[in-house]
Amino acid sequence: MRIDIISVLPELMVSPFQTSILKRAIDKGIVEVHFHQLRDWSINKHRQIDDEPYGGGAGMVMMIEPLDKCISELKSQREYDEIIYLTPDGETLNQKIANTLSIKNNLIFLCGHYKGIDQRVRDLHITKEISIGDFVLTGGELAACVLADSIIRLVPGVLNDEQSALTDSFQDDLLSPPIYTRPESYKGLDVPKILLSGNFAKIEEWRHDQAIKITTEKRPDLLE
Ligand code: ADE
Repeated sequence: MRIDIISVLPELMVSPFQTSILKRAIDKGIVEVHFHQLRDWSINKHRQIDDEPYGGGAGMVMMIEPLDKCISELKSQREYDEIIYLTPDGETLNQKIANTLSIKNNLIFLCGHYKGIDQRVRDLHITKEISIGDFVLTGGELAACVLADSIIRLVPGVLNDEQSALTDSFQDDLLSPPIYTRPESYKGLDVPKILLSGNFAKIEEWRHDQAIKITTEKRPDLLE
């Protein structure tokens, strides 16, 4: 998989991809992540990429020319499965979207800033708009990192068996059951006896019951 990320602040996204599992996925060659500084596609010597909105109003708008030049150049080099704009008015990210994107080959993430991007860029190039939640960030960069993390960990070969994504909360629309490790007892708090029984069929049954109980309590909407 290859992800191209277009941004005016690529430095905001360095460390997530240089750490832990995302770093390993890149080092193993399973995933390539390329950053593109939008100002490199500016059409003037001031490296300007934003301008005032037609019709007036507060805030600046990211201009069409640099975005179109950048995206068109990338598109001329390879076929993209999706060109994704990170925006609070997009579809809210969930595990199903992450699963779908994890089997794609080439993705572009476009990080917005200021008031957003000229509508014509959306009309011309954007195939998917994703929000990471009902709140407004200062820009799309952190959202791009969240989206990339949720996708990359699902790409075959990225997680090892112990880290398997198959038992994640949400993977089967249930939250995860409680988990415990040593010691068996701590300050009078005991690990449920069933987990020490060695009866794996019973343990699986207990975990499933707990997952349903917890989902019912915390996220009944998932069971609907
Ligand atoms: N840009 C600003 N806020 C955002 C959000 N909630 N999700 C995705 N991109 C954003």
